[in-house]
Amino acid sequence: METVKYLLSEDRLPESWYNIAADLPSLPPPPLHPATGQPIGPADLAPLFPMELIKQEVSTERTIPIPEEVRAIYRQWRPTPLFRARRLERALDTPARIYYKYEGVSPAGSHKPNTAVAQAYYNKIEGVRRLVTETGAGQWGSSLAFAGALFGLEVEVFMVKVSYNQKPYRRALMETYGARVIASPSTETAAGRAILAEHPDSTGSLGIAISEAVEVAAQRDDTRYALGSVLNHVLLHQTVIGQEAMIQMEMAGDYPDVVVGCTGGGSNFAGIAFPFIGAKLRGERPLRVVAVEPAACPSLTKGKYAYDFGDTAHLTPLMKMHTLGSTFVPPGIHAGGLRYHGMAPLVSHLLELGVIEAIAIQQLETFAAGVQFARTEGILPAPEANHAIAGVIREALRCKEEGKSEVILFNLCGHGHFDLQAYMDYQAGKLRDYEYSDAEVAMALAGLPSVGA
Ligand SMILES: Cc1ncc(COP(=O)(O)O)c(C=O)c1O
Repeated sequence: METVKYLLSEDRLPESWYNIAADLPSLPPPPLHPATGQPIGPADLAPLFPMELIKQEVSTERTIPIPEEVRAIYRQWRPTPLFRARRLERALDTPARIYYKYEGVSPAGSHKPNTAVAQAYYNKIEGVRRLVTETGAGQWGSSLAFAGALFGLEVEVFMVKVSYNQKPYRRALMETYGARVIASPSTETAAGRAILAEHPDSTGSLGIAISEAVEVAAQRDDTRYALGSVLNHVLLHQTVIGQEAMIQMEMAGDYPDVVVGCTGGGSNFAGIAFPFIGAKLRGERPLRVVAVEPAACPSLTKGKYAYDFGDTAHLTPLMKMHTLGSTFVPPGIHAGGLRYHGMAPLVSHLLELGVIEAIAIQQLETFAAGVQFARTEGILPAPEANHAIAGVIREALRCKEEGKSEVILFNLCGHGHFDLQAYMDYQAGKLRDYEYSDAEVAMALAGLPSVGA
C-alpha cells in the first residue's frame, strides 16, 4: 500500500516554538531607531506590542514554551497533515519524492493563525482591548479576526485596496468574525490621507497599510498593533509547521534534500524551513533551502540588503533586510500576500550567510503550476503557495533531467478558495507577467534612509 498522508495525534503537537537565533553563527544586525540611529530598546516597542512578544523578539533561547491556552486552540486544526504528492510526481514523471505540509486546514485557510492566536493571547493577558493590523491577501486579517473573536478582542484591519476589491469574500469572513475592515489607503489616518492627496487612485500596498495600522495603534493606550510576518516573534510562532514536518518525514522514512517555501515577509518560509535549517547549522543534516518570490516583487533576488523602514510613512524602526524601498508599490499581482517591499531580517540574514537560496518566478508560471497541482492533488492552492509549487516543479524536473531521486518538501501554506477570481482571470488569459528592470530597482531604492548605511 502506498501511503499518501502522514498524520500526528494531538498529543504530538509541539510544546515549544523553535528559535533559530540560538543556532545562527552570528545574529542579524539589530533594528535601529530612525531618529538616533541607535539600536531600539523594549521601551521603544512598548506602545506597539505586548512585553512578552518584545522579549521573544530578542530572545536567543533555542526553545520558547507555547502557552497551554495557545496549544488548546492550535489543537482545533494542528497537527496539520503531511502529504506525499504521488499523483503530481507521476504527472511530472520525476524520480523525485515530493512531500507537502498542508496549512490550509486552519480555520482561516492558511498558516497565519499559528501566530495570530499567539499574538492575541499575549495581548489579552496584558490587558489590551483592541488590535489593529494590515492585510494583503486577507489571509492574515482573517486570522487575526478569528483569534480576536476567541479572546474577546476588537480587531481593525486595513486591507490593501487592490485586495479589498479583488476579494470581497475575505472581507465578509473578517466581518463575520467581528472585525472592522477598511480599504487602504483610507481617509481615517494622516498616512492614508497623505498618500491619497498625492495618488488619489492608489491601489495601496502592505507598506501603506502598515503605516495606517501603526498610526492608529499608537494613538490609544488600550490598543496594540499586530504584524502578520517579518518580525522575529512571528517567524518563531510559525516553527510549529517545520517541527511537525520533521516527525512526519521520519514517519515517511525520508529526509528532505530540498525544502521550498514562498516568501512574502518570510513567515511561512521560516515556519517550514527554520527547524531543518537549525539541524543543518548544528551540523546534523545537510540540505538545500529555496525561497521563491514573485518576479513582480523581488526583494530577495533584486533588492538591496540595507536598513529600511517597514512601512511607507516611516513610522516603524529601521530593519536590516533585503528591500525594494519602502515607497515601492508592486503591481497588482494576485499573490497579494507576497507584495511586500522588504523581507524578514532573519531570512535576509540567512541569504547573506549563504545558508539559503532565493529565486523569483513570474505570475503565469506560478498559476500554471497551481492548476497542475489542483488537477493532480485536488487541493486548490492560494496564489502565494503557487510560487512554492512552481519552484518544486522546477526542482522535480531537474531531478528528472539529472536522474536523481531527491526528496523535496514544501509548505502548501494556504488554500485558494477565496482566490477564485484570480483563477478565473488566469483561465481567461487576463493575467500577465511583470518584468522589473534594473532601472526601476535603482529608482525604488533611491530613497533608502542613510542611517546605518
Ligand atoms: C497563503 C499565504 N502564503 C504566504 C503569504 C506570505 O506571507 P509570509 O511570507 O509571511 O508567509 C501570505 C500572506 O498573506 C499568505 O496569505
